[in-house]
Parts: sequence; structure tokens; C-alpha cells
Amino acid sequence: MSTVKRIAILTGGGDCPGLNAVIRAVAKTAIYQHGIRVFGIEDGFLGLIEDRISELTSMHVSGILTIGGTILGTNNKTNPANHITGYDDHGAPIHEDVSDRCVENLRKRDIDALIVIGGDGTISCAAPLVEKGINCIGVPKTIDNDIVGTDITFGFLTAVNTATDALDKLHSTAASHHRVMVCELMGRNAGWITLNAGVASGADVILIPEIPYDMDRICQFVESRMHRGRGFSIVACAEGAKPVDGEPVVARYDPTSPDPIRLGGIGERVAATIGEKTGIETRFTVLGHIQRGGTPVPSDRVLASQFGHHAMKILMDGGVGRMVVMQGMTLDDVDLTFAANKQRLVPHDHPLLETARSVRTCFGDPQK
Ligand code: F6P
Repeated sequence: MSTVKRIAILTGGGDCPGLNAVIRAVAKTAIYQHGIRVFGIEDGFLGLIEDRISELTSMHVSGILTIGGTILGTNNKTNPANHITGYDDHGAPIHEDVSDRCVENLRKRDIDALIVIGGDGTISCAAPLVEKGINCIGVPKTIDNDIVGTDITFGFLTAVNTATDALDKLHSTAASHHRVMVCELMGRNAGWITLNAGVASGADVILIPEIPYDMDRICQFVESRMHRGRGFSIVACAEGAKPVDGEPVVARYDPTSPDPIRLGGIGERVAATIGEKTGIETRFTVLGHIQRGGTPVPSDRVLASQFGHHAMKILMDGGVGRMVVMQGMTLDDVDLTFAANKQRLVPHDHPLLETARSVRTCFGDPQK
């Protein structure tokens, strides 16, 4: 029998469709099924450090299932064990471990456990709190679908839906103008969004970080489509895509973030080279944060609700320091730090690659 009487919830890292559905499932399960009081922490671990915590009633979490973003707010720059507390004379950040402050802010409200909804970085930030006696249960989220240990994360299918819609729209304008349209999609160093949206929209070329591309191969392919009378091509390009002899394009470096590299710019580069080498009019679009916004698709609402419910089940069954995962069609849990500093990439033998190749999709790999 669990002794948990009060829990808190935070959302950390980049936002993602389905966060509110998890908050709702956790809070309603806690309140209705277990008589547990629930507290919401604003802006991820930053709000925990700054003591911005207030009670969530069932009213607060009503009507949020379908809403994108997070009612709690989020932050992707805070790690309590390595928190920026000031700057030295040269402007360099001064870091301190403020985990004890987090524990104190929870203890003074008699909060026994914390539900941490975030990516691998946010979830692993919770491990020191578990060592200090605050139970933490992680719920993995990311549109990138790259968290190790779980076959799927909520938010991913909504991002794929948005990306597919964009590619479909580019398709009709590309066909009308006989152009090449390059669309840069998110995903960090993983190609899941681009591969799935590319297959769903019938993109002619799909460039993902896991398969470095050869520019000449892409140009030959685009030209051969032109000669075969297709008159246009759609290129779905992951932000982390890179040439065989090169590196991904870094848009900017944010030293205040635990994950300081932000990718971006490859779509423009690929489009410029195709235009120069083939003479075919080529345009690029960067879909950007549109992929993270908006209402979650039904399957993400379902998955997020399952994840939230399962987090409460783990907690009430006495689990300590665990992360919810979906393996196949089964909900399970792994250690909270299981996914830390790892990334789940598209394996080279993934069946979707074969499916795409069988309809003559070009991945830009020289030998194929
Ligand atoms: O991890 C989610 C994600 O949207 C990535 O796909 C993208 O590379 C990154 O976050 C963008 O981060 P930011 O919102 O900090 O620009």
C-alpha cells in the first residue's frame, strides 16, 4: 500500500503536443483514484528552484486534453545539479548544485513524489533528487522520438502529421511550377520525423542524419525525374542531415543550455546546390517550431493519457526512480537514468527504409 499523499508535476525541455494530456491523466488519476493532492511546478526545474509551485485541482486540469503546449510552462536550460547562479567578471556563467533547494521546496509542502515529464535530459536531471529521498517518475516526451528504451514518445505523431501536411502542400506548388522544393524538418540527430513524413507524403528524396548523402547522387536523381517528365521533386531534409564528407549544419550555439547545439540551415544549403548543379529552379522551406505546436493528434492524446496513468500506477505500486516506456504495444518502465546521454537513431535495417527504397525514394546514399 503506497503512503504517497502529495505529488508534484513538472514539464521540462522543449514543449511538445500531448504534455497537457499527461498532466491531466496524472492529476485526475491521483485526485479521483487515490485521493492524492497534486501540485504544479511552473517552467520545469527552474520553477522548482525558484519555488513557483501551486496546487492543481481537477478544475485546473479540465478541458486541457486537446490543447498543445503545457499549462505549467517549460524550460530547457535548467539542471538543478549544475544551475547558473551568476556570472564571473569575464561574463562566464557560475554553476552551483542547487538540488538541496529543490528538495527543501518540495519537503516544506510535504510533497512525496515528483512526476517529471521531459526528454532524456530533463528526466536524468531528476536522478539526484531520488538519491536525496524524493521519488521521481519520468514520462518521456519529444517530437524527435529519439529516447532510448521506448519505441515511441508522445508528440512525435503530431509532428509527423504537421510535417506531412507541409510536404503535401509543397507537392502541389512544386508540381505547378516544375520546381524542386526542399523542406527542412526537425529531429536533432535523428531522422524519425523526416523518414515518416517523407514516406507518408511520397517525398522523392529523403535525407536523414543516419544516411549521409552524396550531392551528385541527389542531383542525378532530380534530373532523371525531370527527364522522365515528372517535372518536379520534393526533398524532405532532416535538420541533422549531413553530406558523406561533412558535418551537420549548426544554426547557433547556446552556452546556457545543457544541450547547447541547435541545428539548422541544411535545407537552404541543399536547395542552393541542387539549383546550381542542375539548373532547375529550387526553393526551400524551414518548418521549424510549427512541428512542436498545435493540438495533439488523437493517437498522441491516447498515448499521453496512457503514459500519465502508467506513471501513477508505477508510483502507487511502489516504484522508485523509474521512467515510463512503451515497448511494442506494452507499457513498462526502466530506470530513470536509462536514456541519459544516449539517442535512439534510425537503424540502417529499419523496414521503413526498405519500404521507401522499394518505391524508388532516393536517400542520397552513393551506392544505391
Ligand atoms: O528536441 C525537440 C526539438 O524541437 C528538436 O527537434 C530541435 O532540434 C530542437 O528541439 C530545437 O530547440 P529550440 O526550441 O531550443 O530551438
